[in-house]
Amino acid sequence: MKAIILAAGQGKRMHAKMQKVLHPILGKSIVQYTVEAAQQAGICDITVVVGRDGESIENELKNFNSNVYFATQDPPLGTGHAVQSGMGRIADDDDVLILYGDMPLITTEFIKEMIDFYNHNDCNAVLAAVYHPDVIDFGRVYDNNGDFVEIIEFKDMKPNTKKSDWVNPGIYLMKGAALSSGLARLKNDNSQQEYYLTDVPKLLVEDGLSVKVFQTRDDISTFTGINTQTQLSEAVTHMRKRINEGHMAQGVRMIDPATVFIDSTVKLAPEVVIYPNVILEGKCEVETGAVIGPNTHMTSTIVGEGTHVRQSVTNNAKIGKDTEVGPFAYLRPDTVIGNACRVGNFVEVKKATLGDGTKMAHLSYVGDAEVGSGVNIGCGAITVNYDGKNKHRTIINDGAFIGSNVNLVAPVEIGHGATVAAGSTITESIPSDSLGIARERQTTKPNWKKKK
Ligand code: UD1
Ligand code: CA
Repeated sequence: MKAIILAAGQGKRMHAKMQKVLHPILGKSIVQYTVEAAQQAGICDITVVVGRDGESIENELKNFNSNVYFATQDPPLGTGHAVQSGMGRIADDDDVLILYGDMPLITTEFIKEMIDFYNHNDCNAVLAAVYHPDVIDFGRVYDNNGDFVEIIEFKDMKPNTKKSDWVNPGIYLMKGAALSSGLARLKNDNSQQEYYLTDVPKLLVEDGLSVKVFQTRDDISTFTGINTQTQLSEAVTHMRKRINEGHMAQGVRMIDPATVFIDSTVKLAPEVVIYPNVILEGKCEVETGAVIGPNTHMTSTIVGEGTHVRQSVTNNAKIGKDTEVGPFAYLRPDTVIGNACRVGNFVEVKKATLGDGTKMAHLSYVGDAEVGSGVNIGCGAITVNYDGKNKHRTIINDGAFIGSNVNLVAPVEIGHGATVAAGSTITESIPSDSLGIARERQTTKPNWKKKK
């Protein structure tokens, strides 16, 4: 079995510069989901038909290691013409699956069922038909006891066109020879002046070949083609539900899944707990017993066992075990937090490592720094990492104690076990076990107010 997936065409109704099938749904593009559904159904030889500027689609698919071939259709003259452009790898005795690349919710199970049906019926082609009496924007499928008769496009319907309760989702299985003979005879005498793939099965029936309809009463949402931004947002809703239910089936606990958005690239261990209003994007990985949220947005962040991340934003960070993050922490790229740490409220960390047991509980900024273990960073203490031109590093060794409201002017190193007095602006390194104070001595003027 080989496959052709159609991904060319303007997608005019999206009103976007981005190619239609590249629009994202929870971490992957529309076409990536379609390709994966075919691959997981066991099809290894897949041609994706792209249009002008098709490199963006190629790059996207390569990003996810999709092992697919590409063909170009330029200009886009309809779905039949697109398949014609993608026939390079198809021999007469091949069986070919054709999918529209704008169908992200299509399932592997459905494709497998259809292949089964195709293999058990002695026929030249099978196409799917979904029960939906009132949907618009789909071609309508007409059959005679399961034998295909014709498809009438929504745009070609006339007021007196007879009704059919079955719509065409755009999933076809055909013998290579039948497919190419049908494609060669397509005409574009329709309302859109396009070469419709939907006319191929009709031509085959006229040739006396057997074409079967595979009918399903599965929910229409699985088969939605994305043509508009509204349909895209509806697809996100369905995909979100599917992803969340998948995690819950593996033991993840979600208090309110309707408010949780998890990319399909995210990995969650069993017994992770997700509170409401959580967004997990990119390559997040959360270990067992971790608690995320409420109100947390994490991108490509690794969270260790038993760690809590509350009301926080994290991006490309790694957090160890049994650590507390938030409320209101901001972890920026290249942050590595150890085990049993505390990164509390209004704390920002960027390009820095924090060793095990280190605490920065409130109102702090640490950037371009290497912080050892068992360090205490007081309230309001910051690294002064930027001199207006260059960034400099701060090193704080194990067991150091940084008092409240300290400025560590980088480059600077605080020794093992050293203490920095509250309110100090430190510009020179402090050796191990020493106390660094850098502030004006207090002067108190008695009865000062009275004298005025
Ligand atoms: C198509 C079907 C319709 C079906 C519906 C299901 C035809 C003529 N109509 O209509 O029966 O109910 O899908 O969603 O096939 N494409 C190309 N090159 C082109 C045109 C389209 O590659 O020249 C690709 C698009 O990227 C898209 C897919 O083919 O992924 C379907 O095209 P689209 O324009 O969305 O077709 P519909 O009008 O939705
Ligand atoms: Ca469509």
